[in-house]
Amino acid sequence: MANFIGLRFQPRLQICSSSSVTNHDTLSKLTLTKNWSNRGGGVKAPRRVVLGFGASFLSQFMSMAGVVIGSNNSFIASARIKGSSSVDQILKNVEWPEQFPFKEEDFQRYDESPDSVFYDAPRFVTHIDDPAIASLTKYYSTVFPPSNTAGVSILDMCSSWVSHFPSGYKQERVVGLGLNEEELKRNPVLTEFVVQDLNVNPTLPFEDNSFDIITNVVSVDYLKKPLDVFKEMRRTLRPGGLAIMSFSNRCFWTKAISIWTSTGDADHVMIVGSYFHYAGGFEPPQGVDISPNPGRSDPMYIVYSRKLSTA
Ligand SMILES: C[S@@+](CC[C@H](N)C(=O)[O-])C[C@H]1O[C@@H](n2cnc3c(N)ncnc32)[C@H](O)[C@@H]1O
Repeated sequence: MANFIGLRFQPRLQICSSSSVTNHDTLSKLTLTKNWSNRGGGVKAPRRVVLGFGASFLSQFMSMAGVVIGSNNSFIASARIKGSSSVDQILKNVEWPEQFPFKEEDFQRYDESPDSVFYDAPRFVTHIDDPAIASLTKYYSTVFPPSNTAGVSILDMCSSWVSHFPSGYKQERVVGLGLNEEELKRNPVLTEFVVQDLNVNPTLPFEDNSFDIITNVVSVDYLKKPLDVFKEMRRTLRPGGLAIMSFSNRCFWTKAISIWTSTGDADHVMIVGSYFHYAGGFEPPQGVDISPNPGRSDPMYIVYSRKLSTA
């Protein structure tokens, strides 16, 4: 069995954003991770460690969005989000550049071995702490249609043995898409599941206008082809359908994309917002901070959007 982070060393995901560690710590972790990964035998891709294009670009975004940048003018380095209002503001009135601003290297991961190998063994663990999960579940209960609403279909992307839906929640069709069959089989909320590597094949195996809601919990940071996936989300959502991307500051560090591991929580909100914007056919994305006890338990952020009725 491979020595992957999160499987053997700790039950929850590592804290992965620069909001929680200094650059020095990041570099130390890189070295440490490299040693572990080498024992696992994965293929390593060259990786951008220090903030580059993406970071300065995001700082520019932040200015455009009216977010106050730290006194040292390094938003990324001081990216711990204070208070709940800033996340809610980040995606307001963004003037997006014409072209998708990220480059191919922004989507590289430290471990570029097949995801199917990394997720081969089931992990019956939770990846964020209980208060963060409770907060997500509560959020779902405010935006999901009532349980057992006729005709409602939901897709949980990057799903596992838990979807964090409200207790007893049921719909006619709840599809899980993920990489580990054992985990998906045990997920009680799913009515069906698909094992598919979205980094190999980002085409969702569903008809147009299939779903009312698409969720993705603590996993948007693993997508190497996010625009392709978000375009597929748009295609498979019904007009007005809701896509909810949620994330914390934890991840399987070696498997998250470079632009994620080299930036902070606020930037992640902007990055996910950009996926909606550049995929097209969505309402302007919104950010929400649902962190239950800021600073005392895992933070939890939502970026959501609805498919335009005309798309
Ligand atoms: C950190 S776990 C989160 C699982 C679950 N959403 C949760 O909240 O506990 C990451 C999940 O993303 C899925 N995943 C990772 N890479 C993927 C890929 N390339 N294609 C499809 N699913 C992927 C894995 O199967 C795994 O279940």
